[in-house]
Amino acid sequence: MYDEEQLLSNPLKRKKYQGFWYILLLLTLLLYATCFVAFVPVSLPSFGRWLWFSRGIDFSFMVVGDWGREGHHHQKKVANAMAVVARQTNPRFIISTGDNFYDYGVSSARDKQWNSSFESIYDSWLKNIPWYAVLGNHDHLGNLTAQVVYSNRSERWNMPRPFFSLPVTSRFGEEYLFVFLDTTPFIKDSYGEAARRNGRQNWRLQLSWLEKLLNSSTSRRIFIVGHHNLYSSSIAGERGREELRILLKPILDKYSSRIVAYISGHEHSLQHLQPYGMDGMDHFISGGGSKTDPLKDPPKESRQYWYDCCKVLPFGLSEKDKPRALFRASKHGFFVFKLYRSELIAEVYSQKAKLLYSYNKKILP
Ligand SMILES: *[C@@H]1O[C@H](CO)[C@@H](O)[C@H](O)[C@H]1NC(C)=O
Ligand SMILES: *[C@@H]1O[C@H](CO)[C@@H](O)[C@H](O)[C@H]1NC(C)=O
Ligand SMILES: *[C@@H]1O[C@H](CO)[C@@H](O)[C@H](O)[C@H]1NC(C)=O
Ligand SMILES: *[C@@H]1O[C@H](CO)[C@@H](O)[C@H](O)[C@H]1NC(C)=O
Repeated sequence: MYDEEQLLSNPLKRKKYQGFWYILLLLTLLLYATCFVAFVPVSLPSFGRWLWFSRGIDFSFMVVGDWGREGHHHQKKVANAMAVVARQTNPRFIISTGDNFYDYGVSSARDKQWNSSFESIYDSWLKNIPWYAVLGNHDHLGNLTAQVVYSNRSERWNMPRPFFSLPVTSRFGEEYLFVFLDTTPFIKDSYGEAARRNGRQNWRLQLSWLEKLLNSSTSRRIFIVGHHNLYSSSIAGERGREELRILLKPILDKYSSRIVAYISGHEHSLQHLQPYGMDGMDHFISGGGSKTDPLKDPPKESRQYWYDCCKVLPFGLSEKDKPRALFRASKHGFFVFKLYRSELIAEVYSQKAKLLYSYNKKILP
């Protein structure tokens, strides 16, 4: 403080002081320029991307669910917000958590909805980003083969089979595994019936495929994607699916030390859940791609009942080692996941591209 005052009052010293900063600035710029030439391909579209790189980010991806309504019910607004955020965050791909086309899926790979609910909606900055999609219960009311076949007609739609996996090697050599499930055939309602009939899908086969896949994978950073959620923090919707807690959870538990998160849609809201407390696997619900559903808390006195029967997780409690919901919003929006060397950041954005929630978690190197 004393020195600074002196410097300011002494014009000669002040000049020297400024000179020091000019030299420092020059050196910094020189250093930046060297790094830029040495490490960054000239074709990089934005400087922001490079700044990210220097912070140690591996890659990012977006997740949107429950969307295909020909732009209506806020679908186009969410898509525009995705484009705004994509421009800033440069996602490597976009994941769809299903219910891609309402109400009855698509009828063929030439269905008009491919244009009116997908290609013409997710445009501008989203145009060149690949999508990896799972099927939702509404998709199961239409032609499933068409959603697979369209992968060959589209530059960006990817669904090689109704359930599949995607290994991703990051620029730091980290191995990720994304597993895309078809959850509807597990579900014991009319949609599940249709799924088992139309798709002739053997859900037992899918489970043994999953078990084999996780067993043989060496990745320590696995993301599981399915349409239906296992848990919820609301009693208003379907409250998570018991069938998945019975059939899927034992497999997820077995490999939980290597699974970073289970990501779903189905409920038309945005939620972050920790069914086993802060040290367990995170569950995210990204179902705000078009319509939203209200959220509802169980009354205080029946919380335990709702947890016991339906695994409804309490929201607004901060007991870190207990089942809990950290975030939920009945809002139109989507998630962005950013992966760093040893950290995951999950962000929720609204249809106005406003950041609603941000969560970070250490992940094993
Ligand atoms: C489903 O879509 C595929 C691809 O467009 C088409 O070949 C097939 O005929 C369709 N099935 C039915 C039942 O319409
Ligand atoms: C695609 O959909 C948009 C929006 O619904 C419409 O304006 C456009 O004419 C459609 N293009 C084709 C080729 O059908
Ligand atoms: C996509 O095209 C390739 C090459 O033509 C073919 O082998 C593959 O079976 C096609 N996939 C689907 C789902 O139609
Ligand atoms: C993976 O499968 C092998 C062979 O079936 C078995 O011996 C091993 O215990 C399995 N590993 C895990 C982690 O389940």
